Amino acid sequence: MYPVPVAGVRELLVTSGSTMAAAEVARQMSEGARNLSLSGHVGFDSMPDQLVNKSVCQGFCFNILCVGETGLGKSTLMDTLFNTRFEGDPAVHNQPGVHIKSNNYELQESNVRLKLSIVNSVGFGDQINKEESYKSIVEFIDAQFEAYLQEELKIKRTLHNYHDSRIHVCLYFIAPTGHSLKSLDLVTMKKLDSKVNIIPIIAKADSISKNELQKFKIKIMSELVSNGVQIYQFPTDDETVAEINGTMNAHLPFAVVGSTEEIKIGNKMMKARQYPWGTVQVENENHCDFVKLREMLIRVNMEDLREQTHTRHYELYRRCKLEEMGFKDTDPDNKPFSLQETYEAKRNEFLGELQKKEEEMRQMFVMRVKEKESELKEAEKELHDKFDRLKKLHQDEKKKLEDKKKSLDDEINAFKQRKTAAELLQSQAQQSGSQQTLKREKERKNFF
Ligand code: GTP
Ligand code: MG
Repeated sequence: MYPVPVAGVRELLVTSGSTMAAAEVARQMSEGARNLSLSGHVGFDSMPDQLVNKSVCQGFCFNILCVGETGLGKSTLMDTLFNTRFEGDPAVHNQPGVHIKSNNYELQESNVRLKLSIVNSVGFGDQINKEESYKSIVEFIDAQFEAYLQEELKIKRTLHNYHDSRIHVCLYFIAPTGHSLKSLDLVTMKKLDSKVNIIPIIAKADSISKNELQKFKIKIMSELVSNGVQIYQFPTDDETVAEINGTMNAHLPFAVVGSTEEIKIGNKMMKARQYPWGTVQVENENHCDFVKLREMLIRVNMEDLREQTHTRHYELYRRCKLEEMGFKDTDPDNKPFSLQETYEAKRNEFLGELQKKEEEMRQMFVMRVKEKESELKEAEKELHDKFDRLKKLHQDEKKKLEDKKKSLDDEINAFKQRKTAAELLQSQAQQSGSQQTLKREKERKNFF
């Protein structure tokens, strides 16, 4: 038990809502309360410290998506922002579609560990037909939400050490044309704005003059508003950052310059880009908005970007997905509908449908069997008819042959009779012939 002064106890108990304890305090006070001196710290104001320690222990993760046309300086800006060299070779730009490339890095600053993912939309804007350029980006963002949702829906969840790959911010690189946004930019940002926090930035801002840049910024913002594109607004509800965030909102889109090259300016080494006519200092606020972007993205609003991703964008995805799956919070009479009830209603609906399908299939089966049966009967009848026809044909044929055989037999018999008669005649003729020869021989002999 903590040694605390009575007034402190009262405050503590009353705020905790315990009327029993409040009555006890009142009784103690009326009895002449003891005066206890505070020898140690009471305690729960250390909660934020506990949270900080826990978070530092776990480390943080932050996922950045860079969208922008080829060669706008995306990789250079990432290297400049995190003061390191992430990617090696430039990406290939002759592919038929946009593909997403994600790289994970572990960074450490003092004792804070950061798992950083830099996701690139490789080949964005390279195609002749750019209609579907946004698709693979949207699909990637949704896939990360889906993975998180699946983890949440598991019975054994491991969200505390889950590698969160949801995109926390999308840096949208706008080409420094000085004119207006391209339709590719507008379409893509419109498709992404309900899924991710978009921070638009004008890339390679050193290639556009100061006056043109100001006009370009105004033009971009008015185009975004008129096309209903919602970009990320730095939050102004926390009074500690309200002022700086409010000011920075007015500077959007940030015009940035990136460089990993360090040049000696005065007696300091500074990140800069050197040209024949002068030097652009990346971290000089008069030259570009790089410092503003770094401040807003990393120092001031990193946690808000993570929070917005979870509470706004993921929540929207989750709600749509669960509604799509048939889950709802209220029944048609607007009464609360629990998950269990939804599940049971869905299950009954499913079973009903299953039964209906089963019945349909059974009927279909019976019909098919009947059809097949009648088809078979028909075929059987046809076979029988064919058999009868053939049998009759065969019998006719057989009868014809028998008749033919009989007539042939008759002919043979007649022939045989004729033959015998002929033979008889022939032999008789031979006999009479030989008798006449003998008679003539005798007559000749008698003559001589
Ligand atoms: P891909 O990944 O191939 O799409 O290109 P990327 O957008 O990552 O561009 P990258 O950072 O590779 O830079 C392309 C070229 O632009 C390099 O030559 C950079 O030095 C140059 N570059 C980068 N940032 C800037 C900038 O702010 N201003 C100017 N003028 N050039 C820049
Ligand atoms: Mg690159």
